[in-house]
Amino acid sequence: MNVTCIGSGYVGSVTAAAFAALGHHTCVVDVDPAKVESIRSGSSPIYEPGLEALIRRTVGKTLFADTSFASVSEADLVFICVGTPTAPDGTADLTYVKSAAESIGRHLSKDRFTVVVDKSTVPVGTADLVSRILAETSGLEPGNHFAVVSNPEFLREGFALEDVFFPDRIVIGAEHERAFGMMRELYRPLVKRERFGEFLGDMPFFEEGMNRPEAVWFETDTKSAEMIKYASNAFLAVKISYINEVARLCEALGANVQDVARGMGLDSRIGEKFLQVSSGWSGSCFPKDTAEFLATSRKADSELSIVRAAVESNRDMHRFVVRKAERKLGSLDGKTVGILGLTFKPDTDDARQTQAAFIIRELLAAGAGVRAHDPKGMSMFREVNPDLPVHYCDRPEDVAEGADAIILLTHWREYLELDWSAIGDAMRQRYVLDTRNFLPPNRIVELGFELEGIGVPPRKPAAACGTAVETGH
Ligand code: UDX
Ligand code: UDX
Repeated sequence: MNVTCIGSGYVGSVTAAAFAALGHHTCVVDVDPAKVESIRSGSSPIYEPGLEALIRRTVGKTLFADTSFASVSEADLVFICVGTPTAPDGTADLTYVKSAAESIGRHLSKDRFTVVVDKSTVPVGTADLVSRILAETSGLEPGNHFAVVSNPEFLREGFALEDVFFPDRIVIGAEHERAFGMMRELYRPLVKRERFGEFLGDMPFFEEGMNRPEAVWFETDTKSAEMIKYASNAFLAVKISYINEVARLCEALGANVQDVARGMGLDSRIGEKFLQVSSGWSGSCFPKDTAEFLATSRKADSELSIVRAAVESNRDMHRFVVRKAERKLGSLDGKTVGILGLTFKPDTDDARQTQAAFIIRELLAAGAGVRAHDPKGMSMFREVNPDLPVHYCDRPEDVAEGADAIILLTHWREYLELDWSAIGDAMRQRYVLDTRNFLPPNRIVELGFELEGIGVPPRKPAAACGTAVETGH
């Protein structure tokens, strides 16, 4: 089939590369010529494991890129994958979606039936809005010449290829049988796992993915599909906020949240996923999607008070981390804090709206100096937070220089391999706050560090507390 994807960001570039790998003739359209050039030359416009290899393998064969919308007139399916930032009132800003719809409308052909798919996360009712814009700009008739479908993405950054090729479910919202039929045909190679090995056979997730059950295909109306996306992301945010609050209570009462989460997750009704403690959830999806869902629920006079509580609790979680370091250091004024991890999670360069920005801002406000490192996200973090006077370090070990504390915010695997002995030598005092309960406690404590996690008993070096006690993490 002929596919066009509008937008080559985190979602668009992965979606386009995936359809190209499944053998569909796919064109990515982006207003940013640098991104288009990057794809044409076989490199990925964003960092996502495996994506560059997939682009390199498909570009010029089934994958193409352009700044022009011309390919729309030949397309069977057009995916809208542009950004949907948060407007000041919390709702999703649909400026880019609307302008993409207008441009698509101007290129729709009256000689074919085109399915226009909302892939971006958009508020309930957006499919109807896009349909109206397409009808106005093209003069064509919905249902006859084109149809709008909602097909929300469920891609986790860092695991986006795995999620796109081996999803739990594919949700399709449509109002026309012909549109459902075209979506079934588009996804058939993915659901049936045809042509998989050709481009993916050597990818690390491939074997495990092939052993997973096939994706569940789920058809519904457009509004329900749009709602499924928001309700899912908000539910996951609630789940993390919940375990993070339980962690704080564990800390107050002397229980170990690692064991509590494991014990809870063994109940298949709860499930073990998304019970990992953190300094709070963040990133380019959860904050924006919870804000939109909440704003919409208020407008409809049906406020989602649980989502409101999860958002508030999450901000408290960021503050809790700062207070914890402050408690340990007495005062933050004049102290130096080393931050490991600026992205909202590992294996991404995405540093938009991260908890690190919130936490660093609070540390600076309390008078601390901040040295920071991230393996992939440093340049984006600096770009989106130009006001933060942070000393950025090229090597992770350098955050320790004269530091009174190190706070690990993102559990990048390479932080396990650091020379913690040299780090200790460079610090003014050996204190680490590991907000992901990720570092191997024995190894760190043996080097004379005092190690605190979240919701787990603190660990002190043997000399300071008698014997080192093994905790569950
Ligand atoms: C998208 C959606 O916005 C969001 O709703 C979803 O939940 C996550 O995926 P993302 O792919 O991360 O966001 O967006 P971004 O990385 O900002 O990429 C959007 C791309 O669209 C950019 O490359 C931008 O240049 C391009 N764009 C934007 C257009 O081509 N046309 C426009 O009019 C606007
Ligand atoms: C999310 C959804 O998972 C995905 O389905 C959706 O389509 C896009 O939004 P993403 O934002 O890439 O994906 O990241 P995700 O892995 O969901 O993590 C979100 C945040 O929650 C991160 O800050 C992460 O560190 C945090 N998190 C996640 C926890 O703190 N604990 C957990 O157990 C899981």
